[in-house]
Amino acid sequence: MDISELISANTRYCAVLGHPVRHSASPAMQNAGFCALGLPWRYLAFDVEPGGLASAIAGAKAMKFIGLNLTVPHKVAAVGMMDELDETARRLGAVNTVRFEARDESGVWRPLGQFDEVRGLEVRSVGFNTDADAVSRVIKSDLGVELRGAVALVLGAGGAGRTAALQLAAEGVGELWLVNRTVAKAEALAAEIRQRWLGVKVQIGYPACAVDVIINATSLGLGRDDPLPFDPKVFDMKRAKSVFDMVYRPAETLFLRVGRAAGCRCTNGLGMLLYQGASALELWSGLRAPIDQMRRALEIEVYGK
Ligand code: ATR
Repeated sequence: MDISELISANTRYCAVLGHPVRHSASPAMQNAGFCALGLPWRYLAFDVEPGGLASAIAGAKAMKFIGLNLTVPHKVAAVGMMDELDETARRLGAVNTVRFEARDESGVWRPLGQFDEVRGLEVRSVGFNTDADAVSRVIKSDLGVELRGAVALVLGAGGAGRTAALQLAAEGVGELWLVNRTVAKAEALAAEIRQRWLGVKVQIGYPACAVDVIINATSLGLGRDDPLPFDPKVFDMKRAKSVFDMVYRPAETLFLRVGRAAGCRCTNGLGMLLYQGASALELWSGLRAPIDQMRRALEIEVYGK
């Protein structure tokens, strides 16, 4: 390929900001998506320390970037740095996708990616959260679980656990069980959910009944010798219909191995990474994401096959 086809003065940019960011598979996935759609856009990754986040976002806005993704540790801090917040970001108190927008000639704000000429435009940043919807999509599409009225068990009450639990509540699960090493954090999350979704029965601990879906939203599984994220003496995996591990590296954690042995339907965190990225691309471009090409690029990037 001619180098001028890769990057020219007309190339437009998106980027992920994180700290660390070297491990990110988003550039491979998004660039495959841009390429499949024939967009002259490129997706970059920048290591930005927390103290530099506001200037990095302001810089991307000044340089008329199309959008940004934010990853650990920036999602919560970015909420206070946006010109506008979409309802998804407001509900979770976290931003994982920024869309830069400009006013068209009739004064309507439109995605900057839809403007060919960016000179002289007034630009604003709008924060979204596409992680929550990705949780639902994995459980519904990949695990085939109907969430309304379901019994769900969420392990972990950090950023990922909170996203999963709030989304399950918003989807109208019947019973939501929360387990976390630091019990006070699970209790605070349960209190928040009880206040916002009166119909959802939230409890701390392990259910004695059958569970439609069990989600690992702890960081256990990332390390090769990590123990299970739940207590197998208290909870028997055979009681779970399906298992979702948000970890995707390694492809099969001990948690998923135990789930598979117990006959559960299983999926790892790659689907969540894919769906949150696909939604971001759709927000930036207004086009349907080329999901198969993006999935393929992710698999090659993460698993080398
Ligand atoms: P993320 O944004 O990925 O959710 P996080 O907010 O740091 O990251 O949350 C990490 C989660 O993994 C938390 O639920 C954490 O439990 P604590 O709230 O008790 O810290 C959980 N976790 C991390 N290491 C763990 C370990 N060794 N055993 C059990 N849980 C662990």
